[in-house]
Amino acid sequence: MLGLHLFLLSLTVTTLVLCLLFSTPIHSLQKPHDQDDEQDTPITRFQRYLRIKTAHPDPDYYSAVSFLKAEAQSVGLQARTLEYAPGKPVLLLTWPGSNPSFPSLLFNSHLDSVPAEPSKWDHPPFSAVRSPDGKIFARGAQDDKCIAVQYLDAIRNLKEKNFAPVRTVHISYVPDEEIGGADGAAKFVASKEFQELNVGFVLDEGQASPGDEFRIFYADRSPWNLIIKAKGTPGHGSRMYDNSAMENLMKSVESITKFRESQFDVVKAGEAASSEVISINPVYVKAGIPSPTGFVMNMQPSEAEAGFNIRLPPAADPDLVKRRIAEEWAPARWNMTYQISELGPIRDYMGRPLITPTNDSNPWWSIFKQAINAVGGKLAKPEILSSTTDARYMRQLGIPALGFSPMSNTPILLHEHNEYLKDTVYLKGIEVYESIISSLSSLEVASH
Ligand SMILES: *[C@@H]1O[C@H](CO)[C@@H](O)[C@H](O)[C@H]1NC(C)=O
Ligand SMILES: *[C@@H]1O[C@H](CO)[C@@H](O)[C@H](O)[C@H]1NC(C)=O
Ligand SMILES: [Zn+2]
Repeated sequence: MLGLHLFLLSLTVTTLVLCLLFSTPIHSLQKPHDQDDEQDTPITRFQRYLRIKTAHPDPDYYSAVSFLKAEAQSVGLQARTLEYAPGKPVLLLTWPGSNPSFPSLLFNSHLDSVPAEPSKWDHPPFSAVRSPDGKIFARGAQDDKCIAVQYLDAIRNLKEKNFAPVRTVHISYVPDEEIGGADGAAKFVASKEFQELNVGFVLDEGQASPGDEFRIFYADRSPWNLIIKAKGTPGHGSRMYDNSAMENLMKSVESITKFRESQFDVVKAGEAASSEVISINPVYVKAGIPSPTGFVMNMQPSEAEAGFNIRLPPAADPDLVKRRIAEEWAPARWNMTYQISELGPIRDYMGRPLITPTNDSNPWWSIFKQAINAVGGKLAKPEILSSTTDARYMRQLGIPALGFSPMSNTPILLHEHNEYLKDTVYLKGIEVYESIISSLSSLEVASH
């Protein structure tokens, strides 16, 4: 491996020397990914961002930040790089409004993406190839590098039209969303710098919509990891006795399965969306005594363990779920113990569910909706997101935050192989954000 590195290094040095000798831009010596490469257009700016490898487990945050910073400078935005955890920068861009005393707007996106398995893709996942029918293939094309660059190009266009915001507009680019955001959005919203932004309203990522309407998310579900451990008397595989570790763990799994079915039945009956119920799914089971050929078969083990992924909608009562775990799923009287890891907040600073109202009680909502309609867009019925985003950290502070990524007529491909976004959908999104930013930043009411 070292040899390969040295080879690549010397290749890079040679390329650099050649460039200096001939004063030729580096990119013209490389084979272009496609013919779009030479131009600077909204699509090529998107492609260039997609080519930066910000996938876990080793996201190149600094290259992403330096690309976005350069773009911000070309648009004429103020830029600050903050760092709340080593190696994990937050980029904050600002377009000052004429009345900075009004609460500001924040457009958030995360810098990172989930990994991709290149062998399962039709095009390399970091090449951002554009197919003849306009599909741009890349990890992050939908989740969520599209909005990151759309925000910038929307402001670029508004500036060209000499639009001046009343409210200050901020864009934040945060690390680590895909791994829970503890070192990203969680630390950013807790910072003095965030407090000073006096944010009144946040737009964060949403999800693609296979239909004509844009989807909009007013809440997330809160993830919990649950680990249940059972201990019991070991015994010969032939003996029947009560309270072995395996027996108790299996009773627990039965009870959890019943609860899971009760929730799933509501969804199957069409009485609730799957994001509106509590989901609990088994993710691992660890038990048995290993032997050279597999497991010891004539022995009932003294320990057994299982892991579950739980998602709580905002209306769920976390204390009720905890009681159920303590009394039914892992009762101490069965020699069982458990451990819950709560991944992020479930109530805001006032103890209220993390919900952003999508009715007239939220002054930002009607302006937002009008802004979408103004460019011919339609909004679907507001939804709870099945999974989780950084918006929960802003909602925890009591700041209204909606999840929105303007991708209609687009299959939902986040975290999947061959993630793509069509160029026409991407360009329409820029227009949508222009409308949103100009409407919301002109809003005179000093809300929040
Ligand atoms: C709990 O574990 C202890 C120690 O292994 C054992 O003596 C006892 O019988 C167990 N109780 C039950 C209810 O399984
Ligand atoms: C608006 O929505 C919120 C949150 O769903 C709800 O609590 C509130 O009662 C609604 N207000 C109006 C005026 O409909
Ligand atoms: Zn995302």
